[in-house]
Amino acid sequence: MGDPIGSAAVMNGVPEQVSVVTEEPQPSRRRFLRWVSGIGAAISGVLVGIPVIGSFVSPALAKAQPATWIKVAEDIALLDLGVPIRVDFVQNQNDAWVESRTQNAVWLYTEDGAKFKAYNGHCTHLGCSYYYDKDLKTFACPCHRGQFDVKTGAVLAGPPPRPLDELPVEIRDSAVFVNYRDFRLGVSERVGV
Ligand code: FES
Repeated sequence: MGDPIGSAAVMNGVPEQVSVVTEEPQPSRRRFLRWVSGIGAAISGVLVGIPVIGSFVSPALAKAQPATWIKVAEDIALLDLGVPIRVDFVQNQNDAWVESRTQNAVWLYTEDGAKFKAYNGHCTHLGCSYYYDKDLKTFACPCHRGQFDVKTGAVLAGPPPRPLDELPVEIRDSAVFVNYRDFRLGVSERVGV
């Protein structure tokens, strides 16, 4: 005999009603699940895309880092007049997720202890470090024999395409600060990097 209620339901056409009741919410549930999975995929795409986009954008932003004020002399009264001095310093740089340290230098020159000239320590040709030639009283680059005037930074000899890169100087109390930045090498115009 079996289950009388079940048999009666089948015999009375209840299965059709049951099938209607159970099938009706399925499309809306599927739509809901599709909607949820679509949102999830969109969020995943954004989360995955941020680092990828960042890897392209961040280096560009890193290059646009502002110039940095560096204290190059504690007391102007202690500087020799008419003789340039080289000041080396270490700079921390953040490029995307990489932090690096670079060694840079500036040359500081004054004739009277009141007006100062400061030059980026990289030769404008290919970036070598140059030195002060005491005999010739000029700056000399050992890489390709470039020469620069100490008072103006002008090119006197060799392949450098432009004068030394002059940097702004400020006296604060008795200390000397230089606004350090780098420029593109090997080109005649001065372009910041
Ligand atoms: S890098 Fe200085 S002359 Fe070439």
